[in-house]
Amino acid sequence: QTNQSWGGRFNEPTDAFVEKFTASVDFDRRLYHHDIRGSMAHATMLERVGVLTVEERDTILEGLAEVEKEIESGQFPWSVALEDVHMNIEARLTEKIGITGKKLHTGRSRNDQVATDIRLYLRDEIDTLEAELIRLRSGMIELADREADTIMPGFTHLQTAQPVTFGHHLLAWQEMIARDHERLRDCRKRVNVMPLGAAALAGTTYPIDRHVTAELLGFERPAENSLDAVSDRDFAIEFVSFASLLLMHLSRMSEELVLWTSAQFDFIDLPDRFCTGSSIMPQKKNPDVPELVRGKSGRVYGHLVGLLTLMKSQPLAYNKDNQEDKEPLFDTLDTVKGCLKAFADMVPAIEAKADNMHEAARRGFSTATDLADYLVRRGVAFRDAHEIVGQSVAHGLERHKDLSEMSLAELRQFSTAIDEDVFEVLTLEGSVAARNHIGGTAPDQVRAAAQRARDALATT
Ligand code: ARG
Repeated sequence: QTNQSWGGRFNEPTDAFVEKFTASVDFDRRLYHHDIRGSMAHATMLERVGVLTVEERDTILEGLAEVEKEIESGQFPWSVALEDVHMNIEARLTEKIGITGKKLHTGRSRNDQVATDIRLYLRDEIDTLEAELIRLRSGMIELADREADTIMPGFTHLQTAQPVTFGHHLLAWQEMIARDHERLRDCRKRVNVMPLGAAALAGTTYPIDRHVTAELLGFERPAENSLDAVSDRDFAIEFVSFASLLLMHLSRMSEELVLWTSAQFDFIDLPDRFCTGSSIMPQKKNPDVPELVRGKSGRVYGHLVGLLTLMKSQPLAYNKDNQEDKEPLFDTLDTVKGCLKAFADMVPAIEAKADNMHEAARRGFSTATDLADYLVRRGVAFRDAHEIVGQSVAHGLERHKDLSEMSLAELRQFSTAIDEDVFEVLTLEGSVAARNHIGGTAPDQVRAAAQRARDALATT
């Protein structure tokens, strides 16, 4: 026999290296609060069904509350020899309250315990993240509303395509985040299912009431199948998938912020507090925050592949492999929280350089499609109109002139269908205002879309 809680059938102590190798307490101790909550609910349920007496239950609840205080004040004697957070807490409880502490684990296994702890922990983290997502979306919507009239070039292939409004571009970002938000809420439903009661894998012989425990812990329902309950980590993978998509979106936005702050674009300014300088080049102001967010997407994708691979060959039910679920999940949470905070703080502080954006949109023949559409309204077939405008652009390139800077006579060389009123469609303002339908870039549409987004956010 050894001094481990499971040492009864062992003839020699664990190898010193194996003890460290198999321990998880260094990283799973952050589950302590949820582990204690789970234990309190379990003890409460055990009393209700008559497995524990009222006195035993109260002794356990008080003991657990004291243990939690010890942990929070930094007094708790964490021990690697006790392997993980669960056995550390249980051993300390028993040290404090004696034999009653040993009754807490009745009808329970670390297998259903750890699965429950992670779900409780993740559920709280999801709720914190949701508040940040709402803050970010709301920042995007308000900035979009302020910039509804600001004209910038819209790009395809990163080449100037057609003028759009900056507000419209920002609402495109908001749509991405709104989908991520929806995915997070959906993921929460599957996180919020309770494994407790599955015990090691087959359930337990005690007359437990899983509905009581589920209700005490705020779970939607007990997990349906005990084998699945202890071995399912889909919920964690699903969360990391959500996180990967979110970071993919934040990374795309970061890339745009980096481009836009460059001297070559010069579309926006990011306040100094979100940037850093160079130790050698005194003139530098680098967009470190968006760059770092772009970079951090990689580690979260890594965790997604890591978790999928962790799970892919595991036979039912619990395997020690599952201990490897925590670090990728925790690191994903930390990373996403940091990136979201950075973005939610930074987005409302973006300063648009409206004149530069306008000038850039003017330089790239961005109203060429408007001229083609004008010709079509005058009875020219679209393909012919395309050709006519192409020739006008070639002429403009030669003379260094935008379409709107050409004289009527110059334009009429290419088509006599062109009249004086053409200049209304060749201006950037005319071009964006003409795209006046739901989902379009016209300033009025952007304002209406911002209002719809605000309303949708208020009712989520
Ligand atoms: N530390 C373990 C984990 O994180 C807890 C469950 C251990 N269960 C067991 N049968 N060894 O997965």
